[in-house]
Amino acid sequence: MSEPIKVVVTGAAGQIAYSLLYMIANGDVFGKNQKIILTLLDIPPMMGVLEGVVMELSDCAFTLLTEVIPTTDVAVAFKDVSVVFLVGAMPRREGMERKDLLSANVKIFKVQGEALNTYAKKDVKVLVVGNPANTNALICSHYAPSIPKENFTAMTRLDQNRACAQIAQKVGSDITKVKNLFIWGNHSATQFPDCSNGTVDGKPVTDLVDASYLENEFVTTVQKRGAAVIAARKMSSAMSAAKAAADHVRDWWIGTQSGNYVSMGVVTPKDNPYNVPEGIVFSFPVEIKNKQWSIVPGFKINDFARSKLDITTKELLEEKEEAMAVCNADAKI
Ligand SMILES: NC(=O)c1ccc[n+]([C@@H]2O[C@H](COP(=O)([O-])OP(=O)(O)OC[C@H]3O[C@@H](n4cnc5c(N)ncnc54)[C@H](O)[C@@H]3O)[C@@H](O)[C@H]2O)c1
Repeated sequence: MSEPIKVVVTGAAGQIAYSLLYMIANGDVFGKNQKIILTLLDIPPMMGVLEGVVMELSDCAFTLLTEVIPTTDVAVAFKDVSVVFLVGAMPRREGMERKDLLSANVKIFKVQGEALNTYAKKDVKVLVVGNPANTNALICSHYAPSIPKENFTAMTRLDQNRACAQIAQKVGSDITKVKNLFIWGNHSATQFPDCSNGTVDGKPVTDLVDASYLENEFVTTVQKRGAAVIAARKMSSAMSAAKAAADHVRDWWIGTQSGNYVSMGVVTPKDNPYNVPEGIVFSFPVEIKNKQWSIVPGFKINDFARSKLDITTKELLEEKEEAMAVCNADAKI
């Protein structure tokens, strides 16, 4: 057994956290030999609900949980933390586009970035789930300048999982055989789910499924899947979002398998291989070794894909501008 690590989940009284906490405490993210101090952050009106979550975590009798700390205080939550799941935010309701949420949620991520800067370990790994996830991650990183930008990522793994599930169903395959479908750009309706490098059981997806489906119905189904779940459930995706958050952080912690890449929203470095502007949080195919991600170069981007990348880039640049205006800060990140 290794020394316990401190893990924080924000929005801990919410619906995604309700599924996610189980996976973390059960060893599905950090492995079955990693003890965990689990800190649960939420806002004061939710403390009663959070008390019930703490009771249930206790009643699960998880062997890996050494301590559970419910709190409303970011200083308590983020002190010496190793891994943070930033889930807490106002969720999208039926009929709302993610842009509508931006101004309310960006302020939360500014405060949390400042607190991480002051209290967290400098090698803390931060996953932003709360929407608009890419731009929230950017703001969080901006207000935590003492922590490397590489340590802030946004979740597009749910979109990747959705894309893999659609293709597996379309070709009648086991999902474990579907590889290297990627999400480019924003976790929003402008994201580009891309099959052009994907395979099913080693065969190119483009040989198995007709191009018109891949460029039209497939793209819009994945882009609008979150809205379809809201329309059906009257609440946003929770179980699948929690599973994707667990997948994202597990791969970051343990590493990706050779030749099997994953999608992550990361702060775009200068000179990235796909010519995306520097300084936005953009989803790329990445591989992870020794807890460090790197963008996988060399995937083909045809004219159709480039036009899709340009649309999602434009949206992210606009979101960045709006977010910085909300934060009333210098627009230079
Ligand atoms: N990136 C993705 O793929 C993805 C997928 C699904 C949902 N989401 C987003 O995840 C977020 C959470 O969704 P949910 O369904 O769990 O929502 P929820 O409303 O059930 O829970 C959100 C929780 O966050 C808490 N919260 C609000 N402000 C907070 C703050 N400042 N600090 C700590 N906690 C705070 C709320 O009190 C609530 O308990 C939403 O923004 C949703 O849009 C993202």
